[in-house]
Amino acid sequence: MMHLRNATEADLPAILEIHNDAVRNLDAIWSDKLESLDTRRDWMRERLDAGFPVIVVADEDNGVLGFGSYGPYRPKDGYRFTVDHSVYVAASAQGRGAGKILMAALIERARTGGFHVMVGGIDAGNTVSIKFHAAFGFKEAGRLPQVGAKFGRWLDLVQMALVLDDRERPPAN
Ligand SMILES: CC(C)(COP(=O)(O)OP(=O)(O)OC[C@H]1O[C@@H](n2cnc3c(N)ncnc32)[C@H](O)[C@@H]1OP(=O)(O)O)[C@@H](O)C(=O)NCCC(=O)NCCS
Repeated sequence: MMHLRNATEADLPAILEIHNDAVRNLDAIWSDKLESLDTRRDWMRERLDAGFPVIVVADEDNGVLGFGSYGPYRPKDGYRFTVDHSVYVAASAQGRGAGKILMAALIERARTGGFHVMVGGIDAGNTVSIKFHAAFGFKEAGRLPQVGAKFGRWLDLVQMALVLDDRERPPAN
């Protein structure tokens, strides 16, 4: 049985492998730079220290099938009720429900954490991810032509947003 849990540092090699596989082979991560265990550890510590989640779905042997996280959408404080998320499932485990478990958990955490909007930046050619987000209620909120470059091509960015609650105003500080 697949199960969801918070990631620990013991999961970093598996998270790194999934991340670097996407760097090597997919348009989903707009970078040509393979990461190291150290840079992934820094990323994870930064997220956790700031109170943001890093979660994994693992199989019955506790092998990591995918991971998800969110962090600040943009650094300025006026964006503090908005998060930018990511979900990645190992190529060998895709289409078996791990992504749905991760996405549902990220939405739940963001909602209970008091955030108001989640935004995902998706490669326009990634129709699987666009449909996947739409199924959770995300709406396309902008398409930026040719803002990315990878594998010798320009890439278009689709931003998809989910409003998490119906508060009319942000809370007073
Ligand atoms: C997009 C992604 C996170 C979805 O996770 P997943 O575990 O593969 O998806 P699930 O098994 O939970 O399926 C969710 C839905 O996605 C769709 N889907 C998943 N894999 C698919 C595939 N290979 N082809 C077509 N549709 C697919 C299905 O419609 C499914 O919905 P359904 O079960 O109601 O039919 C995952 O495929 C992935 O990591 N892809 C590569 C990296 C990436 O694109 N990440 C997102 C960047 S924005």
